[in-house]
Amino acid sequence: MTEAMPDTRWFYLCTEDDLAVPNAFVTTRVGAVPLVAQNLKGRVVAFRNVCTHRFAVIHDDPSGCGPLRCPYHGWTFDAEGVPVGLPFNPTDFQLNAEGRRRLALNPASLARCGRLVFVRVATEGPSLEEQLGSGLFARLSALSEDFPRSGEPGETGDGLDDGSGEAWERFEAANLRVALRPGQALRLEALPPPGAAERFARTGNFLPAHTDTERPA
Ligand code: FES
Repeated sequence: MTEAMPDTRWFYLCTEDDLAVPNAFVTTRVGAVPLVAQNLKGRVVAFRNVCTHRFAVIHDDPSGCGPLRCPYHGWTFDAEGVPVGLPFNPTDFQLNAEGRRRLALNPASLARCGRLVFVRVATEGPSLEEQLGSGLFARLSALSEDFPRSGEPGETGDGLDDGSGEAWERFEAANLRVALRPGQALRLEALPPPGAAERFARTGNFLPAHTDTERPA
């Protein structure tokens, strides 16, 4: 794996399912930089989660569903990051189209490994596959396709433990701790990126696509 500066390092954020519906968003922080990935009219895009008007954080929650709208003066941003809804613009801000384009949100980078979504601060840098290494990238991608169903938090079901037992194979990828029971369950524990609070940690249990009756005992 290639070591890179934090701004150019990729961090696991969530699965595609978490961003599947319009206005779904997931946030994190890398160092001092808040990031957000959001579904805007079907496009999933990533920005610095900071309003360009007075630099307020736009989405404070780790995840949710709602417009990409700053809580302070209500500016709403589109998939290009351009503010398109500005309450009281004629009297308070008087921004024309060019002025609004200049105040577009700062983009961040988003990449997928199978059904897994990663983000980073920098817009340029090594690809996610380069960071992970092609072997690990391919394995993680395949696993994400093999285990598409979300399980109960902290409980993988059918007598499986929480991923800490000896029966599990374990490896790491970026900020992910992966625990695997082949054919039975996949557990993803995402550590918060450097500088991020514990509330940005995420744990998910995933089960095979086949039905409960087909699942191995
Ligand atoms: S600080 Fe975001 S709209 Fe004013």
